[in-house]
Amino acid sequence: MLSVDPQFRIGNIWSGLPCRYLAALMRRRCTELAWGSLLAFAAVGALACTGSSSSREVTPIPENTLRNAAARRGLLVGAAVDSDALTTERDYADVLAREYNAVTPENVMKWMHIHPDRGRYDFTAADALVTFAQQHGMEVRGHTLVWHSYNPAWLEQGSWTRDEAIAELLNHISTVVGRYRGQVGQWDVVNEAIAHDGTLRDSVWLRTIGPDYIGLAFQFAHDADPAARLYYNDYSIEAPGAKQDAVFELVRSLRDGGAPIDGVGFQGHIESVTAPSEATLTASLGRFAQAGFAVAITELDVRVSVPANETMLTRQAAVYQSVLAACLATPRCGAFVTWGFTDRHSWVPAFFKRRGEALPFDTQLQPKDAYRALVKELQ
Ligand code: XIL
Repeated sequence: MLSVDPQFRIGNIWSGLPCRYLAALMRRRCTELAWGSLLAFAAVGALACTGSSSSREVTPIPENTLRNAAARRGLLVGAAVDSDALTTERDYADVLAREYNAVTPENVMKWMHIHPDRGRYDFTAADALVTFAQQHGMEVRGHTLVWHSYNPAWLEQGSWTRDEAIAELLNHISTVVGRYRGQVGQWDVVNEAIAHDGTLRDSVWLRTIGPDYIGLAFQFAHDADPAARLYYNDYSIEAPGAKQDAVFELVRSLRDGGAPIDGVGFQGHIESVTAPSEATLTASLGRFAQAGFAVAITELDVRVSVPANETMLTRQAAVYQSVLAACLATPRCGAFVTWGFTDRHSWVPAFFKRRGEALPFDTQLQPKDAYRALVKELQ
């Protein structure tokens, strides 16, 4: 649940000081400090940096980033990543690595991308993202193994017996999770299996296997990487209602039936003006946490009417802050992930009419009020 950023070795105030920064600070301060304080400082620094190469020349990274503020609170702060932007836009990659300690592939681990033909997997983009995360000490949240959407035609249109469908599911999950064993810390195993009215959503899996496809998926994922934390992930469960009740019953019965499920992801695709209050969200997260589940905010964006004015962006910032506050108030809420981070690349304008500007950085990668509100809440 805690940040796994390898730069941070101990879980106290020092854990917020990246070793690279500490090393640079020590070099600069050597002449200024009295020897006594220097020795104490060096001892703590050495402890904090155990295992890292402190002799390398490194550029200090700014201390007041979202990432550093989150690490001090033991929180993963992540963003969904557009893999095309990551490879073609240097500024996009720079801000991502500077500000976040976790990534979620926005699309490249979905079935259609990673398993485009029967028996053929394409790991190119997913591998690149995992490598990027490792190079920058970031956690990876894998997304997603089983969904009703983004499936290739061969899967959707095949005529499968129940046993054949189970075999395909097992092959996919064991291959994908197995490839990233030890490298992807958390998986959204099953995504959006519940419809708005609380019934099981129609999908190729429900039609071919029946309701127990969900438990099977968790078991297959666990078998492929027993150390990975496994999540059920869904939207519109931030406030009480039929859907939240159905998700609650689903995950409880899965666990009671022995399925290896660790947590529940609250996607959080929110319309700014109708956002749930902090109290509502805290109660919703708490409902699952008290029942023994880890929880996470997995896909937050806060859309507004476009073009946005200052009032809307102020309100948006308050919504971001209250969602983070609800997560921080819930001891089992270990990750706060937004669906993208810059308005330059967001699914919102394409999926919601006349809505956009939903993320904490603008199209020029400048921090918005929402970003400042998040840093403030963490401090
Ligand atoms: C979205 C992506 O952002 C889009 O690029 C893609 O075209 C469709 O999927 N819930 C989820 C995500 O779990 O995987 C979805 O991502 C957004 C809604």
